[in-house]
Amino acid sequence: MDSASIVNKLRAIAGAGNVVSDREELVCYLFNARSRELSEHLPAAAVQPHSAEEVSEILRFANEHAIPVIPRGQGSCLSDNTTIMREQTIILSLSNFRKIEVDPQTLTAVVGPGAVTAEIKAAAAEHGLFYPPDPASFTYSTIGGNVATDAGGLQCVKYGTTKSYVAGLQVVLPNGEIIRCGGKCIKDVTGYNLTQLFVGSEGTLGVVTEIILKLIPQPEGKKAMLAAFADVDSAAGAISRIMVSGVVPSIMEFMDNPLIRAVEEATQSGFPVDAAAMLLIEVDGARNTLDDQANKIRAVCEELGAVHLHIAATDEEAKHVWDARRMSLSALYKKARHRLSGDPAAPIDRLGDELRKLQELGEKYGIIVGCYGHAGDGNVHPCILFDTDDERERAHKLRSEFHEFIISIGGTVSAEHGVGHEKIPYMERQLGKAQLKVMIDVKKAIDPKNIMNPGCMFGEMIHE
Ligand code: LAC
Ligand code: ZN
Repeated sequence: MDSASIVNKLRAIAGAGNVVSDREELVCYLFNARSRELSEHLPAAAVQPHSAEEVSEILRFANEHAIPVIPRGQGSCLSDNTTIMREQTIILSLSNFRKIEVDPQTLTAVVGPGAVTAEIKAAAAEHGLFYPPDPASFTYSTIGGNVATDAGGLQCVKYGTTKSYVAGLQVVLPNGEIIRCGGKCIKDVTGYNLTQLFVGSEGTLGVVTEIILKLIPQPEGKKAMLAAFADVDSAAGAISRIMVSGVVPSIMEFMDNPLIRAVEEATQSGFPVDAAAMLLIEVDGARNTLDDQANKIRAVCEELGAVHLHIAATDEEAKHVWDARRMSLSALYKKARHRLSGDPAAPIDRLGDELRKLQELGEKYGIIVGCYGHAGDGNVHPCILFDTDDERERAHKLRSEFHEFIISIGGTVSAEHGVGHEKIPYMERQLGKAQLKVMIDVKKAIDPKNIMNPGCMFGEMIHE
């Protein structure tokens, strides 16, 4: 079907004012946060429906004519999760689904996928409630995107990722059927857990049009601290020891020297630019427990040879530190024209091996590699920086070798950003043939014509 016919049908379903078809405007939908290289295919249109019923009509139409549909939030994804594979594609923007209804009686919130995660956190806080997942993008990413990738973040080390807070979903299936899975019940084992199948499915199985989130009481207080180390091994040792010390930090972040320098340059936060590694840690809970928790962590850091320790004096000071930390990825933009980033994770007792391997590979390939991340989860963000084509080749080799290593030590190539188009080459190696086949069979059962975000997650393994 040609683009003009697609545009006409979308206008009839959603209203002419809710369909974007100008080439200049459509270029915006090629963007995602991973790289500066845009997808080469312009979509036929971007549609902004207002209801699940309109989404249903759009999918029914797309399914009948085998037109690809890519659901989209803010494009803050980091694994090329929204890449357009051919011209006649419909971008389905959820920007009109911004409902946020907090229900303090059931400790839940019913939200639209287009609601910005920070707005949900703020709405929950008005009732003394807490929605913990906090991907670094939470001030601009949407909850729909967070659900699609099972987004993580800083506080996951204590509170878990997005999936731990998704209690129910309304989903429009590729054939246009609207289903509700899960709900507000604390316990529910009626049938397969389809809710969690859709979480992390990266828009490959349907369009989420409503989400029921679990909320928890706000912790009474928190305390943040910074510990600097003269070598990466000591910092890694401190993390492993803290994680089994009986104290559960609410944040346990790591930065190596290239990252400390880049973030300091971008934010002037007073970070220790000569340190080989830095930990940013927070504890939370009842106020009368905070000193005790912080002291236990301080003792471990001192024992492991921390060269500098600082406890934030005020919540404002701590907020500045966390805002600076969330700038890590953008701070690197000034350092090189291109970057390969990632989100691998290893079991926490292998964190030291993970960090050492990365340094070793940086030396082997002669490429600058910085590293930061959610070290308490064993989840790091290696940042491989390059400018030239020759460096690009070496950067890709480095990353492949690192991912092979991660898999060999029982880790995962993606802890929180998803597979997208980026990690397809590692799927079989990590999951094994049999498990991968089960996933492909599930995809084919729900989306037999492969209209939902085609190419994402399985690439050529699924033929149209
Ligand atoms: C972060 C993103 C990249 O933690 O996951 O900064
Ligand atoms: Zn992260």
